[in-house]
Amino acid sequence: MIRLDKYLADMGIGTRQEVKKHIRKGQITVNGEAVTAPETKVCEGKDEVKMDGKPVSYASYEYYMLHKPSGVVSATEDPRERTVIDLIREKKRKDLFPVGRLDKDTEGLLLITNDGVLAHSLLSPKKHVDKTYYARIQGCVTREDVERFAAGLDIGSEGAKERTRPGVLEILKSGEESEIRLTIQEGKYHQVKRMFEAVGKKVLYLKRERMGTLCLDEGLKPGEYRSLTKKELEYLQMNQKGVSR
Ligand code: URA
Repeated sequence: MIRLDKYLADMGIGTRQEVKKHIRKGQITVNGEAVTAPETKVCEGKDEVKMDGKPVSYASYEYYMLHKPSGVVSATEDPRERTVIDLIREKKRKDLFPVGRLDKDTEGLLLITNDGVLAHSLLSPKKHVDKTYYARIQGCVTREDVERFAAGLDIGSEGAKERTRPGVLEILKSGEESEIRLTIQEGKYHQVKRMFEAVGKKVLYLKRERMGTLCLDEGLKPGEYRSLTKKELEYLQMNQKGVSR
């Protein structure tokens, strides 16, 4: 059971002060009865809450798979740029955030949720969650690069050492412009780009295809999203063992 004003504020109807005004004005009904006390307790998922006659259903957690397009920042708010959260039009929760960051020019799989425990279990370095990227690279990617990625690379700058864990590099096409798939278990800042810089090459295009058990739905075009299926969520949560809510 939660307070009616919290219920409405959680669902993005307005700030706590704004929703109190709606309630006091008699715009809200609970199970068909007008309710004017903001502190009224309601049962999420059981009581039927309506505002101006329109149902306001409650969601504790939301999980969206977004195909992040290039040109959008992985943040919740930004004074100048469009964010990945702005792209989720049907959201109910106002506390959604992206699980990890993709660079502004990177495309691909991004999980958007308000489930902090799940996010932690996917991002924690201790969990070694695989992230798989497809990339186009300027220059010829070689067997030697595959070995260097497998050994771990120093991606530090200005004399400071910063070693990566081993990465699994697969060459899909090699030539003046190469195509690769890379699986790493970390998420250091600009990691994929810096790993290729460490072997003297430049990433021209980068797309994340997979994070743990979650694969980008090929039916989603850049900018499109959908809710996770029950199975997708269950598989992701299996990775959470040992993390208490
Ligand atoms: N590595 C990068 O360099 N950029 C990303 O967006 C993700 C991984």
